[in-house]
Amino acid sequence: MSNHNSNQPENYSAAPEAAEPKKGLFGRDKVAETTPENDPSYGKNLSFAAAEAYRLLRTNLMFALPDEQRCRVIGVTSANAGEGKSTTALNLAYMLAEADKSVILIEADMRLPTISKRLGLKPTPGLSNLLAGLSSGRSVTRKTDLEEKLTVIPCGDIPPNPSELLGSEQMKTAIEVFSQSTDFIILDLPPINEVSDALVVSRLVDGIVMIVRQNYSSRRALAEAMRQLEQANAKVLGFVMTAANTMNKWSGYKGSYKKYYKYGYRYGYGYGYGYRSRYSQAAEEQKKAENERMKS
Ligand SMILES: Nc1ncnc2c1ncn2[C@@H]1O[C@H](COP(=O)(O)OP(=O)(O)OP(=O)(O)O)[C@@H](O)[C@H]1O
Ligand SMILES: [Mg+2]
Repeated sequence: MSNHNSNQPENYSAAPEAAEPKKGLFGRDKVAETTPENDPSYGKNLSFAAAEAYRLLRTNLMFALPDEQRCRVIGVTSANAGEGKSTTALNLAYMLAEADKSVILIEADMRLPTISKRLGLKPTPGLSNLLAGLSSGRSVTRKTDLEEKLTVIPCGDIPPNPSELLGSEQMKTAIEVFSQSTDFIILDLPPINEVSDALVVSRLVDGIVMIVRQNYSSRRALAEAMRQLEQANAKVLGFVMTAANTMNKWSGYKGSYKKYYKYGYRYGYGYGYGYRSRYSQAAEEQKKAENERMKS
């Protein structure tokens, strides 16, 4: 008789598919040499299924914030780093513009900005320069080739104090001013459990979209982020599950929030910690640069 016991811990430790990097929504997670022209993760290069998923998100958000008479301001964040915030923010902005809504996408992750780089846009001057009173609103907005109605505000020079800037009266005023000329403002924010920036901004937005990467963050991490959002009185509009397998043996049908709770706290590939240290590393580098600036 075989002494194989299916309750052995190793049988729980990794789903066979979890050992391989996931293909995800874009067919591949990373492209060797991505340029704004060939990047499959946003805009016109999206696969049919991916584009449809983002269109569904657009529709759901329009139902969640139905008041068409005024600008709707939406923050995109997650519990941990690397869950797909920037990609979702970018595609959501793109899909809204595709539906003839005017959109301003703000790269409000001043710790690890990626959107301007991905789009091949000049990163400065941007939001930080505007908030510091060094640049005008006009000089920080960029047009893209993606959609006529989509405008991007890059993060600008990386400041030593992002959360102070994001929580400032200037930020509030900037959102109010931009609101007057656009239908939607989408903010790409840093992760809740890493830095306080997203919480600080949450009081300036109509709602927050939480990104949850399948098989990645722990249930505890998501619960902690939700607790913090609740404490900050933030309105969470909904959840987006990224890198989800349409059908897999762990979570069944993709996108099921209930099932996420049941299964979602498996530790994906353990690279959450790597991402976490990227944030602290970025903070350390910014501090060092600031010290150098003070010395000179
Ligand atoms: N829906 C998705 N399906 C599959 N892969 C995705 C999805 N969304 C994003 N990704 C991939 O996940 C990786 C991280 O995405 P992204 O940079 O958008 O995350 P992030 O949360 O903004 O990260 P950071 O916290 O570092 O800013 C990228 O390689 C991206 O292509
Ligand atoms: Mg990002």
